[in-house]
Amino acid sequence: MSIDGYIDSAADERVVLSNDADLDRVDAVRADSDAILVGATTLRKDNPRLLVRASSRRAERVARGLPPTPIKVTVTSRAEFDPSAAFFVAGDSEKLVYCLTDAVAEARCRLGAIATVVDGGRPIEMCRISEDLGARGVRRLMVEGGGKVFTQFLTAGLADELHLVVAPLFVGDSRAQRFVGDGSFPWNPDRRAELAEAHRLGDVVLLRYALSDRFGRG
Ligand SMILES: NC(=O)c1ccc[n+]([C@@H]2O[C@H](COP(=O)([O-])OP(=O)(O)OC[C@H]3O[C@@H](n4cnc5c(N)ncnc54)[C@H](OP(=O)(O)O)[C@@H]3O)[C@@H](O)[C@H]2O)c1
Repeated sequence: MSIDGYIDSAADERVVLSNDADLDRVDAVRADSDAILVGATTLRKDNPRLLVRASSRRAERVARGLPPTPIKVTVTSRAEFDPSAAFFVAGDSEKLVYCLTDAVAEARCRLGAIATVVDGGRPIEMCRISEDLGARGVRRLMVEGGGKVFTQFLTAGLADELHLVVAPLFVGDSRAQRFVGDGSFPWNPDRRAELAEAHRLGDVVLLRYALSDRFGRG
């Protein structure tokens, strides 16, 4: 996020927050995860590939008996996705779309050939997604954004670990997306989160918070 807490600009053009060292760190975290989740807006707006970039990391995963790249996961109430989006076409890993019950039939028509559409319930709760992913063998889920998804995982108390990277710039426009929206967070003035690490990566800083007793396990 920016110094003033935004994860993008308000303009169509994406603002660059990470630097190369941080992107490499993100790649290592991806390689260590069983699945990566992004919200539908991030999928539409950023068109992320969500692959492990370093060939050495993909090879290490394969040597451990894992697919080269983690399962890709998204969540939506309406499944209005371009089937040629990088989420669907890049890489051979499984793609899971958690969809609001009402839109499941339409989503399966549109995406059934390229992704597994899962009935996420009505409403879709991140706890239920986590449990379903657990039943599919996912032990470590990396949530890459955006703000609405971060807010739900954090307010529900589901995150074991938070990696907050602060980039040295201001966005300065309240129409832009903040890191999180309003909500009742388990960490507040009465219960401070535990700062486990502060690490400089060039011109950005990584703040790693331990949010549950599962922090650092596995
Ligand atoms: N700097 C970073 O690290 C970073 C990382 C990721 C994203 N971003 C930025 O974040 C922005 C997007 O964030 P955002 O908060 O607007 O969106 P988001 O969290 O990416 O996605 C929100 C969308 O996901 C679906 N969704 C989320 N929770 C749902 C639920 N419980 N039930 C049903 N559908 C659900 C809905 O999609 P439908 O509309 O399809 O129903 C909702 O509109 C973009 O500008 C992106 O560039 C920044």
